[in-house]
Amino acid sequence: MLNQTLSGLVDLDRGDAALLTRQLYEQLRSAIADGRLRQGFRLPSSRVLAGQLDVSRNTVSAAIDQLGAEGYLDIARGRRPSIAAGLVPPPVADPAKAQAGATARQRLSGWARRIGRSNWPFQHEGAPRPFAPGLADGRAFPHDIWGRCLRRAARNARPRGGSACNRPALQQALARYLVEHRSVRTEPRQIIVTPSAQAAIELIARVTLEVGDVAWLESPGYGGARVALEAAGAHVTGVPLDRSGLDLAGRKDRPRLIFVTPSHQYPTGKLMPIDRRLELLRFSKSTGAVLIEDDYDSEFHYDGRPVASLQGLDGAGRVFYVGTFSKVMLADIRVGYAVVPESLIETFELAQRHTGQLVSATLQDALSEFMDDGAYAAHIRRMTRLYRARRDRLAQALTAETRGAFAIDLPAGGMQLLARCRQDDRLLCARLAEAGVTARPLSNHYIGKATERGLFLGFAAWTDQEIDNGANLIGRVVA
Ligand SMILES: Cc1ncc(COP(=O)(O)O)c(C=O)c1O
Repeated sequence: MLNQTLSGLVDLDRGDAALLTRQLYEQLRSAIADGRLRQGFRLPSSRVLAGQLDVSRNTVSAAIDQLGAEGYLDIARGRRPSIAAGLVPPPVADPAKAQAGATARQRLSGWARRIGRSNWPFQHEGAPRPFAPGLADGRAFPHDIWGRCLRRAARNARPRGGSACNRPALQQALARYLVEHRSVRTEPRQIIVTPSAQAAIELIARVTLEVGDVAWLESPGYGGARVALEAAGAHVTGVPLDRSGLDLAGRKDRPRLIFVTPSHQYPTGKLMPIDRRLELLRFSKSTGAVLIEDDYDSEFHYDGRPVASLQGLDGAGRVFYVGTFSKVMLADIRVGYAVVPESLIETFELAQRHTGQLVSATLQDALSEFMDDGAYAAHIRRMTRLYRARRDRLAQALTAETRGAFAIDLPAGGMQLLARCRQDDRLLCARLAEAGVTARPLSNHYIGKATERGLFLGFAAWTDQEIDNGANLIGRVVA
């Protein structure tokens, strides 16, 4: 017969004979932790307890030794083990709720509240399907070459210590690419490698903004940037666009930071011409505002020559340039980067380290090999041809299937297009979702009142057949 105090606390399942010690240890531990067994209570000796439980003495001794080692029991030679002093169980306000596993309401930080308030519409679009924007075609990706790079990098991995943030080989490969193709002004060491473009934007926001600073964002614009800027405490103002992009005319307010997507404005796809770029840089110089240039999918350019980066026009370290591998390679590769001014390298390395925004050295090494042996450039060339054809196909199919319901802006590059319409685009997207097509409403991208409506459609990841079927479904829904 089990000791009266222990009966009801210990109940071993003999069907699980191999784990009897584990069961006894866990049942006693939880009874001590929640106060059902209190300080001073003495267990029977291991011989007696083994007899009462009808298990071997070794089973009991092993459980008791473990509880002694973890501080739940005081064990002294020649004495029965007793519950250790000073173990105060956590107070339980409402035992019924505690039993049901209800979690206590936590007090949230200002940062968490700001993230929670952010009204960027993170739609739960489910599994990717046409025409989810921003997706590269994973089916056309050279998985074998990438796999070789990963394997080699993994084989050569050496312990490097926690301070190695940014691998020089990747910094050099990226710097060569950015200088040659985007006219970015950078030394390799200015490149900070992060787990995404979002992480890079978030680091820049934290490093440059104080709570209450004003930040400007294009409206319509990129909601991910809005969240990062607001989380850093900025008051985000949406700045309307004219035909050249961010419209600076007549603005009286003075921002600390301006976020722009000059290569393919997100979401309209427009290119910011050189005169507006120069105006923006003059404005930044006269006001002291820093600029974030998000060049998220500039690798894909279809018509005319790509325009050089804004960062490359600035010689004064006022522009932070941000890029990502998630568009050019694969969405879940999770590598992005920022080119930061020379004078801030150390600050960013510290910020990376202390917020843990680091990318695996093995992954960085694999990426630098992928770039160095030409696979990266070859992939961009192949995808540029493929995506250009898909852009044209979607525009044509949509025009044919919807008979003038949309005004389509053919973007000069990138991975998505905007089809403007007059109807309620949120409602239309909801109806399309039911019909099996993903589209994002243009109105969700405004800060404040939307002035135009339309569907934001990704074309890069979908085959001709998928594009035709999707356009046909859109045609039926708008008919
Ligand atoms: C404009 C823009 N910038 C940045 C990103 C984010 O890239 P990453 O996945 O590397 O955070 C996206 C992703 O959709 C984007 O559309």
